[in-house]
Amino acid sequence: MCGIFGCATSGSKAAEIIHGALKRLEYRGYDSVGEATIFEGKIYIKKDQGKIDDVHSLLNLDDLPGSLGIGHTRWATHGAPSKINAHPHTDCGEKIAVVHNGIIDNFDELKAELENLGHTFKSKTDTEVIPHLIEENLRHGLPFIEAVKEALKRLDGSYALAIISTLEPDKIICARKESPLIIGIGEEAMYCASDIPALLPLTNKIISLDDGEVAVIWSRGYEIRRLNDWAIVAREPEIITWTVEMAEKQGYPHFMLKEIHEQPLALRNTLRLQDLYLDLIATFLDRAKNVFLVACGSSYNACLAASYMFSKLACISAYPVVASEFIEQFGSAVNIDSAVLAVSQSGETADTLMSVDYARNRAATILGLTNVVGSTLTRVSRVYILQQSGPEIGVAATKTFTAQLLVLAQIALRVAKLRGKLSSQEIKGLEKELKSIPDIVEKTIKMNVEKASQIAKKYRDSRFFVFVGRGINTATALEGRLKLLEIAYVPSLAFPAGESKHGPISLIEPGVPVIFICPRDKTRKAIIGNIMEMKARGASIISVIEEGDEEIKRLSDDYFEVGRTVSEIFSPIVFIIPLQLFAYYMAVEKGLDPDKPRNLAKSVTVK
Ligand code: M6R
Repeated sequence: MCGIFGCATSGSKAAEIIHGALKRLEYRGYDSVGEATIFEGKIYIKKDQGKIDDVHSLLNLDDLPGSLGIGHTRWATHGAPSKINAHPHTDCGEKIAVVHNGIIDNFDELKAELENLGHTFKSKTDTEVIPHLIEENLRHGLPFIEAVKEALKRLDGSYALAIISTLEPDKIICARKESPLIIGIGEEAMYCASDIPALLPLTNKIISLDDGEVAVIWSRGYEIRRLNDWAIVAREPEIITWTVEMAEKQGYPHFMLKEIHEQPLALRNTLRLQDLYLDLIATFLDRAKNVFLVACGSSYNACLAASYMFSKLACISAYPVVASEFIEQFGSAVNIDSAVLAVSQSGETADTLMSVDYARNRAATILGLTNVVGSTLTRVSRVYILQQSGPEIGVAATKTFTAQLLVLAQIALRVAKLRGKLSSQEIKGLEKELKSIPDIVEKTIKMNVEKASQIAKKYRDSRFFVFVGRGINTATALEGRLKLLEIAYVPSLAFPAGESKHGPISLIEPGVPVIFICPRDKTRKAIIGNIMEMKARGASIISVIEEGDEEIKRLSDDYFEVGRTVSEIFSPIVFIIPLQLFAYYMAVEKGLDPDKPRNLAKSVTVK
């Protein structure tokens, strides 16, 4: 997730406006920053790695000349944070500058093609193919806007783009596919931005672009067209009444709710990870004699789910271990034949890093899954994967948890392939299903927002909750419980349903709410048995079911429904959604701030 901005003014200094807007977009990414302006037929660029204030004090971003320009605040995806990789990116002739938010899936092949045609690349980014593609089209005699249009047609993946060129020095071309982009209509100026906060002090009149649309803006006007048939799009501007703070949360009252809603997008991004790194990690896991999945909190719950994935798909025993216990529990068993896959959203969790350090000293192979570029975990891992969820500000992990699950599922599938454990038909089926998950999650969010708020109202005074699952959804139960207790401060217990009669059922008395995770898999019969046991003791049954599961609906006092067609392996990604929403609304009902639960920090950097 990056922030892009562009402005075409009729005489004001663009650089200062861009700088101010980027500051308001910094929450979208902050590892590098850059601006480009056009003045007297030349493109001027300042960019570097670092936070905006640091780069500004070094370079003075405000003294670029010109009344039109673009800017970018980066959250690296392809290419580490560095001056060269910072946006804007240019073509060989430095006549075109581009800022981009998104991921170009086919950049490898485009880059090879362009290099063969003599283009020289400076950065390791996927973005840089765009100015070179446009330049190539210009070489073939296309006018600038045509050249952009044809270049866009070659891009697979997601993008929000702002493009400027000395060939059309009064215009900015903006394009959108899957990444957000809005146009701002000002007095004697037009703007484009990733998000509303960038625009608020400048204008409250905005137009949101839809996927597949291209806008050309100049200081006194704009034109929006559809990329596929170049038809003009007429759309009325909307008037925004948000404050800057509300806008950062995109109108949601809390970051947590915003981040829950961002999950379809975050999951789509995890389906675009580079094959090379996924394959490398799968190869190391396949070769290892013992595999440990090491993490804390929600990341541990993702690892627990992943241990079922690895076992079921690839027939590997991968031990999920709470990082603070790793050395005590498995330290002596770690050796050169071990692989440790450390999972940490922040990449900075002290216990996880301590385990990694220990395992490295015993010659184990360290593999990392994290959301933060340049984090310590990326530096100490032999191979790491960035999960591409964008910054998560709420203390409770939501979008980063489901993204971790989806990455881990992809790795498990690859190990299964390497080991020949699945038929090609099974693999195809699972890969197809993987791709459908973001849509199922999107639907599930829609199905549960209202419901979660209602159920939270009903149970707001309950003093104790129980979460129960079986199989891979034991992890979902643990994660649902972690969400509820950390932000709504409700004491809760979670366990595999089979453990019930070995102790926890003694806590059940009339009215205790018990939340059951009930996918339609082979655990279903046993789960129904567990529901009956709890009902017999007067528990209030809240079930999470697949839509249309009438039988369990009838057994439940309340239920959440999730979208269908998920095989067991992927089910936690979908079944956790209502529980995230439920925890959120429980916190809200109790008048608590879900973004900042007491005593907790987003990143736990002490042991
Ligand atoms: O950054 P990490 O993934 O290593 O963080 C691990 C835990 O601290 C984190 O998941 C924590 O449990 C969250 N607050 C859960 O919502």
